[in-house]
Parts: sequence; C-alpha cells; structure tokens
Amino acid sequence: MTTTAAKPTAVTAPVDHAAGKSRVELKNVSRGFGEDWAREEVVRNLTFEIKPGDLTCIVGPSGCGKSTIVNMVAGYDHPDSGEILLNGQKVVGPAKDRMVVFQETALMPWQTTFDNVVFGPRLRHEGSRPEIEKEAHRLLEKVGLGEFKQKYPSQLSGGMQRRAELARALINRPLLLIMDEPFRGLDAMSRPLMQEFFLRLFEENRRTNLFVTSEIEEAIFLADRLVVLSNRPAQVRAVIEIPLPRPRQFHMMSSPEVFEIKRQALEILHDEAMKSFGGAAHFAHRGPAEHEARA
Ligand SMILES: Nc1ncnc2c1ncn2[C@@H]1O[C@H](COP(=O)(O)OP(=O)(O)OP(=O)(O)O)[C@@H](O)[C@H]1O
Ligand SMILES: [Mg+2]
Repeated sequence: MTTTAAKPTAVTAPVDHAAGKSRVELKNVSRGFGEDWAREEVVRNLTFEIKPGDLTCIVGPSGCGKSTIVNMVAGYDHPDSGEILLNGQKVVGPAKDRMVVFQETALMPWQTTFDNVVFGPRLRHEGSRPEIEKEAHRLLEKVGLGEFKQKYPSQLSGGMQRRAELARALINRPLLLIMDEPFRGLDAMSRPLMQEFFLRLFEENRRTNLFVTSEIEEAIFLADRLVVLSNRPAQVRAVIEIPLPRPRQFHMMSSPEVFEIKRQALEILHDEAMKSFGGAAHFAHRGPAEHEARA
C-alpha cells in the first residue's frame, strides 16, 4: 500500500523537557457502574505500564471498557480500587499534564480553529499573549492547518478536526497524550494518511502516548506495545511487543512478523468477542449437521 501523508511541517519548537520522559502505571485497577443487583463490573484488576517515550495501544472488543480506562487515566473518573500513577504520583483528577483526543470532536464550534488552540493556555494565563499565539501558530503550521486557522470546526474535514485537536492538546505540552479511537469514523482514504501523519509527529519527540483503537492493524502500525483486553469486564489478556523499527513505514505491515502478531491478537479478540454472544462461541465449533440434529 502506498500513501503520501503530509509530513508534519518542520517548524522550530521550543525545548519540551516533558516529552518522552513520563511513565504511567495502572495497578490492580477495577471499576464498576450501577447499584446493588444492577451493578456491572466494567474493568477488573487491570495492571499494566506505559513506558516513557513509548506508544502503548489498548485494543479490545467493542464496549469492553476502553473509554472507562481512558477516563480514569485522564482523571475524569476514578477507580473503585487500585491506583493509577503518573511518574509515581497518584492520579486524582484531570490536569493539563494528561491531554485527551477523543473520537468525537471536542472543538468548540463557536470558536475559530486558532481560538480553540489558544483557549486553554489563555484561560490559565500561561505565558504572555504573544508567546501563546506564537506557539499556536507554530503548532497549527506543524499539523498542516496554516491556511485554516480562522476557519470554524464545521468548515474543517474530519481529518483536519483531528489535527486541530492534536494542536490544541500539544500546546499544553502534556506528559501523556491519550487518544481514544481518534481516527474512528474517518473515511478509508483519510485514515491511513492520519495514521502516518500522527506517527511522524510521535516519532519526532516520542511523547509518551496511550492510544486506544479497535483496529488491530492500526495498533500494530503505531504501537511499541499492544495491551490486548478481554471482553467486559476488561482484563489484560496479553501484552505484545511490536519489534518493528522506527520510523514506521506501511510496507513493514506485510512482513511475516506482523502477520504473526496480527494472528495472535486477532485470535484473542475473536475469542473475546464471541463471549459477548453468549452461546455463539460454543456453537461456532460445531458443524451444521450438529446444529440441525439439536434443533
Ligand atoms: N458513567 C457510566 N455510568 C454507567 N455505565 C457506564 C459509564 N461509563 C461506561 N459505562 C458502561 O461501561 C461499559 C464499557 O463502556 P466503555 O465506553 O468504557 O467501552 P468501550 O470499550 O470504550 O466501548 P467502544 O468500543 O464502544 O468505544 C458499557 O457497558 C457502558 O455502558
Ligand atoms: Mg470507547
């Protein structure tokens, strides 16, 4: 497959000491929702680590609890038990050291792209107005939106909106960038372009990244490590290292190594997805004659 993704524009960046130095640890994290008999466990005893400078991908069946994990790492929600540590400090709430890019656009529709990007730092009075604006210009150039700064989110394509959100997250120089299925819903042409664009951006300074996806190929292409989750309640089924060199190229995806990783992960995901169909997994292993005999 050949694609030509726009490369992040080379614009001189201020030194970002935070990039690539942060470690996140989830230790026996559990979370459920609902009261008494209606209570449902969504995340069970989850333990894994996001190493400094690594891109760790969470992959799991639909509805298994991935966004619940994202919300807890971001600090919007809290574990019932267990703990999440960022550089050894317990996560107790949201903060600008953990920025999230969601699948649904979170850009404010009444503000221009530029105003969306400067909104957070301006609100918190971080630096002078010219400093903030200079950095916003730099980041918007970098994500290829130099021409679109004064456009409103509704005037941007899906891929452009994602890039604007990246700029809006990166202006905070987070210790951890969290991405929850950011490319879901993009069309078949835009998605690989965005993947490649994002990879180049990540590979520039290797800001520690937690990336959630349900697409196994996307996960293998991007990640240093896959954390494969079970069906709900989400538990770690496997941690798979991706030994592909960087910078990653699409042609690497046709290597026997990738084929084997994909087979391994898909086998687990298929097994877990079948569990959500209850007895279906049981019948899937029987021949048609056996089904008929039971009917
Ligand atoms: N605040 C909440 N209150 C009650 N239930 C919730 C809450 N947040 C999540 N859930 C439930 O937790 C389960 C897992 O949801 P979650 O969104 O974490 O899954 P997901 O893996 O991100 O799904 P998807 O693949 O669709 O993105 C769902 O059954 C959902 O209804
Ligand atoms: Mg989700």
